[in-house]
Amino acid sequence: MTQIQRVGVLGCGLMGSGIAEVCAKAGYTTIVREVSDELVERGRAAIEKSLGRAVEKGKLSTGDRDAILGRITLTTKLADMKDVDIVIEAVVEDLAVKREMLSELDEICPERTIFASNTSSLTIIDMATATSRPDRVVGIHFFNPVPVMTLVEVVRTIVTSDATFESAVGFARSVGKEPVACKDNSGFIVNRLLVPYMLDAIRALASGVGSMTDIDKAMQLGCGHPMGPFILGDFVGLDTLLKVAEIMFDEYRESRYAPPPLLRRMTSAGYHGRKSGRGFYDYSEGKPVPVDLGL
Ligand code: CAA
Ligand code: NAD
Repeated sequence: MTQIQRVGVLGCGLMGSGIAEVCAKAGYTTIVREVSDELVERGRAAIEKSLGRAVEKGKLSTGDRDAILGRITLTTKLADMKDVDIVIEAVVEDLAVKREMLSELDEICPERTIFASNTSSLTIIDMATATSRPDRVVGIHFFNPVPVMTLVEVVRTIVTSDATFESAVGFARSVGKEPVACKDNSGFIVNRLLVPYMLDAIRALASGVGSMTDIDKAMQLGCGHPMGPFILGDFVGLDTLLKVAEIMFDEYRESRYAPPPLLRRMTSAGYHGRKSGRGFYDYSEGKPVPVDLGL
């Protein structure tokens, strides 16, 4: 099993920032790469905001917060990943970008370094084949928000070595998560079930089943969901949800995974959810206000 002490994280967006936070909180030296100084600063701010929540609630001392931040280095240089023991990629849900990143890292990182993907729906083998170390490529799929959700899906491909899989399971536990083992199929376990539910909610809205707020309220009060499907879609990111739907539909060719036209229209309009300030709800006032989609 690879001894993990230094962690690399690719991407410091919604997920990368959370992954970096939990790794540093667990004591790992954590190097995070983003593509521009501006996005490095945005990522840093996201991590500081999340830690700030815990400090405000008295769940974290300012000293511990500072120690966690002290273990995180943010950079735009891929070369700074040169001596990490594991890299977790959390870049945009785009196979070409993920393959290009892992292929470049293959030349930079030592042979021992494990490559892990936080992808929602791509298959890990399609990334592993971009490297010279397919046996050391694995899926480590965190859930949003990373500091809160305890599940991690650990995905082995048909060529992932036992040692790599066991290292990934041990690593997931070391950052305070509860791992489940998944096969390398699009959507693994949760998204295989959750994405069709979220897409069906959009189809139900478009077909006039109920108002968006009533559908959200119905699933919260009727099924005990912490968030209804539209608030959840805004939380995940409608751009990410659309990419995930396209990938899963391409894999399974089943209508339940087909991206609804309304989701495409909204994403094209830049309605990406909470991350862009507007999705099914408008977040500019802080509290979510339903957007009139003219349905
Ligand atoms: N980052 C860090 N911490 C957060 C947070 C965030 N974005 N949002 C809330 N929290 C923390 C709060 O600080 C609070 O911490 P304490 O318990 O220590 O006080 C705790 O979470 C609860 O938060 P709140 O009381 O403010 O609000 P809540 O009770 O409504 O919980 C929530 C917020 C945890 C996000 C909850 O609404 C929830 O669980 N929603 C469902 C999330 C979900 O389904 N995630 C999976 C999405 S699918 C996915 O991730 C896979 C994929 O590939 C797309
Ligand atoms: P995001 O858009 O918030 O962040 C993606 C980040 O990747 C952006 O900040 C972007 O600048 C950065 N990026 C793009 N190309 C890069 C590169 N070459 N090098 C470094 N950084 C690069 O997206 P997200 O929601 O954090 O999703 C990231 C990954 O995690 C996706 O694969 C997604 O499917 C998966 N995921 C998302 C969620 C969710 O709820 N959003 C949950 C689990 C897994």
